Amino acid sequence: MGKAKVFATHPLFEDARAILDAGCEVEYWAQPERPTSQEILQRVKDKEGLICLLTDRVGDDLLRVAPKLRIVANVAVGYDNVDVPSCSKRGVIATNTPGVLDETTADFAWTLMMAISRRLVEGDMYARSGNWKGWNLDQFCGTDVWGKTLGIIGFGRIGRAMARRAAGFKMHVLYNATKRAPEEVEKELNAEYRELNALLAESDFVTLHVPLNSETRGLLDAPKFFRMKPTAFVINTARGPVIDEAALVHALEAGKIAGAALDVFEQEPFIHPGLKRSNVVMAPHMGSASVETRSKMASMAAHNVAAFFRGQRPPNMLNPEVFKTE
Ligand code: DGY
Repeated sequence: MGKAKVFATHPLFEDARAILDAGCEVEYWAQPERPTSQEILQRVKDKEGLICLLTDRVGDDLLRVAPKLRIVANVAVGYDNVDVPSCSKRGVIATNTPGVLDETTADFAWTLMMAISRRLVEGDMYARSGNWKGWNLDQFCGTDVWGKTLGIIGFGRIGRAMARRAAGFKMHVLYNATKRAPEEVEKELNAEYRELNALLAESDFVTLHVPLNSETRGLLDAPKFFRMKPTAFVINTARGPVIDEAALVHALEAGKIAGAALDVFEQEPFIHPGLKRSNVVMAPHMGSASVETRSKMASMAAHNVAAFFRGQRPPNMLNPEVFKTE
């Protein structure tokens, strides 16, 4: 039997390629621009495996034209770009990359929180402008982070990593989640559960760490912003559509909240023009972007595919019931 044919929509990293190339015949997308949906469809037609990024949509249209496809490995923990029920229906395993990016993403959410509260981007632009005349008492005064109340929405691995960081800043930590955390976790992280509206009303910083699904789409909308303090900031490193962006722009314009720090957007790479204001810090979806972590993510996806074609269970299956029926 020949090697399994796999299409990877990115050249990946050396470690991941070594894992894949050992057991599979891999076609890597090598162009600098991301492939279009049509280009992916063309290449996946005769493949048994697909390694994709979160910008690649894997829906029934793709699965239909790729009858030999057995596994789709997403190089991301979030998998809202993959239609998992359609994969299951067609007997295709879907995998993601949980666990390896938690600390890196929490670091970045923290970076955004510090940047917006201490006006780092405004200060950086001013320092570069050549207009700085020297220190002044009321120059670029921001808002303290230490000692404030941090509201964490979504209390999985990344949300909890945020709570751990908050201890060093002597913050009061509140969290909201679909399921309350075990008492020992609350105790260890010094985190108190709150209903969503109460968390929004009490927090100085609200940080989002939920997956995108039908329950979380538009979670922060106009009425929710209305509940927040006018001095509060929102931080989003989860998925853009968790925030109703038009409502956020309105809340910022109307002074319902003090600012926002965003790594993700409703329709990436489009950015709502109303977000281009001094009280918004923006990043191009780079929360997990450290060399170490992105390389681990790619290797994890490669492991899932390589294990599957060796006849082993891929470690990070989203639809394990499909594997049982193999
Ligand atoms: C993910 O993994 O879902 C992030 O958005 C990218 O690291």
